[in-house]
Amino acid sequence: MTNGFPSGFTWGAATASYQVEGAVSADGRGPSIWDTFAHTPGKIADGTNGDVADDHYHRFEDDIRLLADLGLNAYRFSIAWPRIMPGGVLNQAGLDFYRRLAEACLANGVTPYATLYHWDLPQPLEDAGGWLVRDTALRFRDYAVAVHDGLSDVVKHWMTLNEPWCSAFLGYGNGEHAPGRTVGADALKAAHHLLLGHGLALDAIRTEGSTYGIALNPAPIHAASDSPADRDAARRIDGLRNRLFLEPLLAGRYPADVLEDTGTTEWFAAQEADLPLIGAPLDFMGVNYYCPTTVAAPDGPISTPGPSTQPGSENVVAVDTGLPKTQMGWPIQASGLRDILVTINKLAPELPLYVTENGSAYPDVVTADGEVEDDERLDYLRQHVAVCKDLVGEGFPLKGYFAWSLLDNFEWAWGYSRRFGIVYVDYATQQRIVKKSARWLQDLLADV
Ligand code: FCB
Repeated sequence: MTNGFPSGFTWGAATASYQVEGAVSADGRGPSIWDTFAHTPGKIADGTNGDVADDHYHRFEDDIRLLADLGLNAYRFSIAWPRIMPGGVLNQAGLDFYRRLAEACLANGVTPYATLYHWDLPQPLEDAGGWLVRDTALRFRDYAVAVHDGLSDVVKHWMTLNEPWCSAFLGYGNGEHAPGRTVGADALKAAHHLLLGHGLALDAIRTEGSTYGIALNPAPIHAASDSPADRDAARRIDGLRNRLFLEPLLAGRYPADVLEDTGTTEWFAAQEADLPLIGAPLDFMGVNYYCPTTVAAPDGPISTPGPSTQPGSENVVAVDTGLPKTQMGWPIQASGLRDILVTINKLAPELPLYVTENGSAYPDVVTADGEVEDDERLDYLRQHVAVCKDLVGEGFPLKGYFAWSLLDNFEWAWGYSRRFGIVYVDYATQQRIVKKSARWLQDLLADV
């Protein structure tokens, strides 16, 4: 019985620079918005920060060997902009680190997949206006060119941005993420400048023989009932979460209803000239999928955090549909992965898709024997990998799957209190323990 996936399927695990690297002042790295945010009292649930994290900066060789030992053939990591251009000028030592990292991948038979921006904007750029100003998109292009020029011989697969929805709406909308600003519907301007940065970077770095994409976090949005009010709530959230990003990237337009809902029609009309750049063809799209969302129109005051805090959706509340949940409180529904991939495939039928993140947080414990028996995570992975297998079997253009995450790490506003790794990290000793879920994946990949 073989695992049912084609031999060329990409199997990886993902991390992000600020979540794992630590070494925040090594080799000329400057501060990012996440350094500032994490060091602001009250922003991170457990009062921690990414100063040390998994010390991946010094331990990446062992970590990549571990990834390869599990049978994975790809590593998705992100490049820290504040290591490369801490103050607008190239820092060669920062670039050298990622060369060593990419070379370690290649030496272990692991294909590097690099994300250029996983949320760590250099602080000086935030001080100059951050993603609310157009100039940041131009600076992103300069940074992307510097990285690509320096590493394109060893890295052949590139993603510009990770989840611009989070950067725009959690960073500038409700302030849950760095830089922690709450500018209301102006957060849509950040979304546009992020997409413009993507388009400018892609145009400047695209080279024959490599592939280029972007990683989004689209999700199926359901209405809590068939009532017109609930269905309208779902339309608004689907617009902000999915269509605001998918349509300009894949169909060269912004969704008119979203601009109308948020009162930004006029501002976006003035940006129309950017659309061809944003909508230039991609080689692939990365999809980070965790859970679906169900929403309703409220009949009382709004108290539920989440979608209700997004600009333009103030009259919308998240609804608990009774599905089992992970420690994040995120409902588990593997069929949602199929739904969202199919939605994207309808917009762009030929476009290769990758699941660039998928995983779950649970309060893992190390047993007396030194094992981590994470059966719930194993089950989550099993269900979502099964969806991928079915799709591939149907001839769907799904090319790879990356588990989030290789390692337990700094989970943004949750600090170290949420573990997503398939490998456990003892933060006191930096010891790694391969969890049962990773062993399951290893067995699956060995079954060819
Ligand atoms: C995604 C992020 C990733 C991680 C997971 C749990 O939104 O891209 O860094 O935090 O969620």
